[in-house]
Amino acid sequence: MTAKLLQVDNLFCHFDGVIAVADLSFSVRAGEIKAVIGPNGAGKSTLFNMIAGVTRPSAGQIRFDDERIDHLPTFRRARRGIARTFQNLQIFRDMSVLENVMVGRHMRSAAGMTQAILHSSALRAEERAIAAAAMDLLDRFGLASKAQTQAGTLSFGQLKVLELARSLACEPRLLLLDEPAAGLPHAEADRMGEIISSLNRDGMTVLLVEHNMRMVMSLSHDILVLNNGRRIAEGTADEVRRHPEVLAAYLGEAEDA
Ligand SMILES: Nc1ncnc2c1ncn2[C@@H]1O[C@H](COP(=O)(O)OP(=O)(O)O)[C@@H](O)[C@H]1O
Ligand SMILES: [Mg+2]
Repeated sequence: MTAKLLQVDNLFCHFDGVIAVADLSFSVRAGEIKAVIGPNGAGKSTLFNMIAGVTRPSAGQIRFDDERIDHLPTFRRARRGIARTFQNLQIFRDMSVLENVMVGRHMRSAAGMTQAILHSSALRAEERAIAAAAMDLLDRFGLASKAQTQAGTLSFGQLKVLELARSLACEPRLLLLDEPAAGLPHAEADRMGEIISSLNRDGMTVLLVEHNMRMVMSLSHDILVLNNGRRIAEGTADEVRRHPEVLAAYLGEAEDA
């Protein structure tokens, strides 16, 4: 029996009148790729924001490694090993590719990214070690030759890979990926899938929000389906694919598209 790395219990999130997430409970086992799918507005990004510490739950609990984290600020969650990418890319376009990855390392500090940008020469030896680790990540993802290039000049596909590399710079144990393949042409989406798969083979636990059903069905060990903030199904790709409520809410519509 594999340990639960993340456990969510009876989680709610209200925005004024809107219930974005309602009474949601699930867990993520260490070493698995779990997908969260559902139509737009289902509450997927809100769920990620609550796990990462950007949005405070209205009620419920989030445990990481058996400890409550739902009261912790973002940087403490990053320090414990939770990293994420964003549905809308968050890249510093004026900084170099290498610096963008290095900033990921500083997500673990209280001062965060701002401090990293303002005082990037403060701790030189540490900075050199961080730069070397960042170069290794770029090398792994085929971006080493772009290290000194201004990030804003990269293609969209390269930026998505860069953001993933940055999320890994803080040496996470849980990766939250919000639509990593969104906007990518087939070949690049497939490559993104291969990258995620290779990270998982090396032991990374992944929570994946994605509309690309080919990627979801081929990568996920387990799939959680949300609709209107609630869980409507959970199981393997085959189980979820056949679930009547899922077909009604989502898959039929996605496969037609
Ligand atoms: N900051 C916010 N303020 C108000 N409503 C929000 C906010 N963020 C999300 N919502 C609402 O919560 C619901 C879930 O949104 P979201 O989590 O972005 O869904 P998904 O990522 O599944 O498309 C939607 O109805 C959305 O309009
Ligand atoms: Mg979203």
